Amino acid sequence: MTDTYLTLVNTGVTKALAKKLGLPRPAPLRRYRAGDPVAPGPVLVLHDAASTADADVVAETLVGWDLDVRRHAASADRYGAVVLVLTGATHPDDLSAPVLEAAGTLRGLAPAGRVVTLSRPASDGDAPAVAAARQGVDGLLRSLAKELRGGATGNGIVVADGVGVDAPSAIGALRFFLSSRSAFVDGQLLGVDSAAGALPGDWDAPLAGRVAVVTGAARGIGASIVATLARDGATVVAVDVPAAGEGLARVANSVRGSALQLDITAPDAAERILEHTLARHGRLDVVVHNAGITRDKLLANMKPDRWDSVLAVNIAAQLRMNEALLAAREVRPGVLDDAPRIVSLASTSGIAGNRGQTNYAASKGGVIGMVRATAPLLADGGGTANAVAPGFIETEMTARIPAVTRQVARRLNSLQQGGLPVDVAEAVAFLAAPQAGGVVGRTLRVCGQNMVGA
Ligand code: NAI
Repeated sequence: MTDTYLTLVNTGVTKALAKKLGLPRPAPLRRYRAGDPVAPGPVLVLHDAASTADADVVAETLVGWDLDVRRHAASADRYGAVVLVLTGATHPDDLSAPVLEAAGTLRGLAPAGRVVTLSRPASDGDAPAVAAARQGVDGLLRSLAKELRGGATGNGIVVADGVGVDAPSAIGALRFFLSSRSAFVDGQLLGVDSAAGALPGDWDAPLAGRVAVVTGAARGIGASIVATLARDGATVVAVDVPAAGEGLARVANSVRGSALQLDITAPDAAERILEHTLARHGRLDVVVHNAGITRDKLLANMKPDRWDSVLAVNIAAQLRMNEALLAAREVRPGVLDDAPRIVSLASTSGIAGNRGQTNYAASKGGVIGMVRATAPLLADGGGTANAVAPGFIETEMTARIPAVTRQVARRLNSLQQGGLPVDVAEAVAFLAAPQAGGVVGRTLRVCGQNMVGA
């Protein structure tokens, strides 16, 4: 599962050779370690003429995180991040000054630096010039992300009209995108739909006191989600099939959580999860639907068992479980009643499609639709449902892809490498946290800005 190419182009003689030959040289990404600063250097905050007040709010927030904040670009300075506050733009002309000022700083952006835009969503009710300015930020951000090098990323926060840039989810998303927790999230625009949610008392333990269930937890992305939620303070129930019992016990023990052997397609899966979780931990706040399988075949060669098993595990089990949990929520105290979170694993295949994966993409597209429709059912208790759509992640699932296809798949994104399970786990942890309460029914891609898909 190691990416030998990534190592070779970053070490010794082979590094020099790759440079000479003009080969793609993906940069090793910076990943979060406790105690890291929020951004890897001074943060430059720029804004359009009508966004001064919002930029002030952003700058004050950053200062509160002990960051060195600058309000004007100085050509000799090297920035860790550039934040473009474009919430007030009402005409594409308004973008010129801040964007061109940022342009001059990009060559000096620190390794694994960040560009983050804050803007408003374009809607059909907008005046044409307003919609053009707002939608223009979308195109700008996606293109800029493709130009950044050295492990730097660009992402945008699109804050709904009527919601302040100081809303917990706008602030939470800003911190997530600036930090190394979002190492493999690139070229994405995340919508903030409401001012719901709350800033955590302790940014290092936003999930303190929360109980989370993670399915498919014995290995791969699921095991990393367990570790990351536990790092952030949660108590975790790790669920996987009996055949994976040994790995499951190891994962659960490593975070002093509990293990539950269970096939999620069993009709009583939700009931057993509830019994176990309430008996051991007294409450259930976060459900992460991570268990998933692939059975790839061209549709022309698809046998019913391949289609049915993928749909059964990847979407039907989640639907059945959510329905049972939502029903239990009405009658059983402690079940998803305090700002609950459901986070499901989708896939970029479910957005862009992938040859040989009609079954998988149907299930993952299904997840994206399901979270959108489930989120409103949780809104009364301050809850949300969202999805994370990974691109190419280095796991046992992708290790089974033929070698040449795997090499190509790794390079087909702006960061020119595969992500790691922890990159997906960090996005799940963000969506599970109290500060993400205003992100509702969304799908966040963790794909290094994969070339395919939206
Ligand atoms: P994996 O195959 O390494 O691990 C999946 C885990 O789910 C295994 O431990 C397996 O035993 C468990 N599982 C499968 N069926 C189950 C069932 N019926 N009941 C309970 N547990 C079950 O997979 P990986 O790569 O860690 O993927 C995790 C999730 O991320 C999946 O939903 C997958 O579709 C999704 N994903 C992965 C990508 C990647 O590049 N690896 C890309 C996009 C999405």
